[in-house]
Amino acid sequence: MANVIIVGAQWGDEGKAKIVDLLAEQADVVIRCQGGCNAGHTVVHHGEVFKFHLIPSGLLYPDKLCIIGSGTVISPEVILREITEIEAKGYATTNLKISDRAHLTLPYHITLDRVQEESRSKDQNGEKIGTTGKGIGPTYMDKVARIGLRLGDLYETDELLKKQIAHILSIKTPLLKHAYQAETETVDEIFTLCKQYAEQLRPYVTNTTPLIHEAIGAGKHILFEGAQGTLLDIDHGTYPFVTSSNATAGGACTGSGIGPSRIDQSIGVMKAYTTRVGSGPFPTELNDSVGQHLQEVGKEFGTTTGRRRRCGWFDGVIGKYSVQVNGLDGVAITKLDVLDGLKELHLCVAYKNIQTGEQTSDFPTRLSDLAQLEPVYETFPGWTGSVHGIRAYDKLPIEAKNYLTRIAELIGTPIAIVSVGPERQETMMVCNPMRNERKDDKASAVTAC
Ligand code: GDP
Ligand code: IMO
Ligand code: MG
Repeated sequence: MANVIIVGAQWGDEGKAKIVDLLAEQADVVIRCQGGCNAGHTVVHHGEVFKFHLIPSGLLYPDKLCIIGSGTVISPEVILREITEIEAKGYATTNLKISDRAHLTLPYHITLDRVQEESRSKDQNGEKIGTTGKGIGPTYMDKVARIGLRLGDLYETDELLKKQIAHILSIKTPLLKHAYQAETETVDEIFTLCKQYAEQLRPYVTNTTPLIHEAIGAGKHILFEGAQGTLLDIDHGTYPFVTSSNATAGGACTGSGIGPSRIDQSIGVMKAYTTRVGSGPFPTELNDSVGQHLQEVGKEFGTTTGRRRRCGWFDGVIGKYSVQVNGLDGVAITKLDVLDGLKELHLCVAYKNIQTGEQTSDFPTRLSDLAQLEPVYETFPGWTGSVHGIRAYDKLPIEAKNYLTRIAELIGTPIAIVSVGPERQETMMVCNPMRNERKDDKASAVTAC
């Protein structure tokens, strides 16, 4: 058994939650490490759909310890609502623990998120980022500026808590008023809210670091659930069209408080095509009937905001980049079934400079450079029939296997898992990361893991 990081390897919504839910059966602990309620993680179990925003996707198993780690940002309103909803469905939340180091998202963060987005659209340089509007960026801003309120601070004396809130609002109130002509709450209002949250969250908030290290010491197996995706990472994504945390594998270590030496495998989740929600570059985006097919058949609507996801072909350049910046030992390819019925598939194998014709397979830093590049495609025949009911990699149509083989070759890592539907069992496990299986252990090494 192993400690395994699951990360999004594109622009989010790759199907991370489905893979985490699947692998969680073999784990003892599931940890969310970064991001906040901007995440929308869908688990489908026996036809019932669960949409998690902060709760780790292991919660449907009664015996798993589910931790929301120190690198996350917590909206008390959202987590309390999620707890109420999941309990109403008959699931216990006694195994849920939230790090007292995680930062709190408060109403003024949400206001700031909104007014900053509005001002971006007014500013002549400012295209909107298309944030989820959940206050994520402003909460991380305060964390880095060292004026954030952490969950643990809720349990300080009234005097200390009030002093901290007064200090924060002495910065936020003038900023909101003068830069954005917006109002914020008073010190007393935020204080009252914090006291209420402190009581409601008391059973869950704790120092999670010893819990995690006790589990590691006892030889337990940990699954780290990434949120967002590599191209949304604050350092490695398509900045500034990114989120405000490290969605790459390193974020799982910093966001939970464990060292990289404790990780056995990192697995990236990629759709068999590409989607993006929100603004920003997307080289393989399709605005035609194929894009429409992917959007409709893939039911590509944002889990958190309900926005229509932009869709396009699989991009091998970002795939290779993701493998590099995450150190991926393998990938889970999801939604292969959505390609059923397409006569031809295109795979982006490189980018070509539209001025010079020069080709590259390296993802550029500057968006102005990216704007000079267009995708170079290889074409593959589609398959007849549906892959939805297939449960063994070898039984996939040859066209699907050829397509997947080329993906693995392009990105430079094996395919460990193939998903052909939202349910747990609609999956082909080629290499089991929880057993630390690797390409070299398997005879089928060429095409998959
Ligand atoms: P996450 O944020 O990465 O966890 O992904 P989301 O839950 O936001 O979006 C993925 C969507 O695809 C969800 O509706 C899943 O139920 C669905 N899904 C996951 N894997 C598959 C698959 O292999 N095939 C199909 N058709 N749907 C899938
Ligand atoms: P999961 O975990 C897809 C996008 C937003 C926006 C940008 C910044 O479900 O994959 P933010 O609110 O974080 O400041 O928005 O990031 N974004 C996501 N896109 N899936 C997500 O999470 C996302 N979380 C944020 O659409 O473009
Ligand atoms: Mg999602």
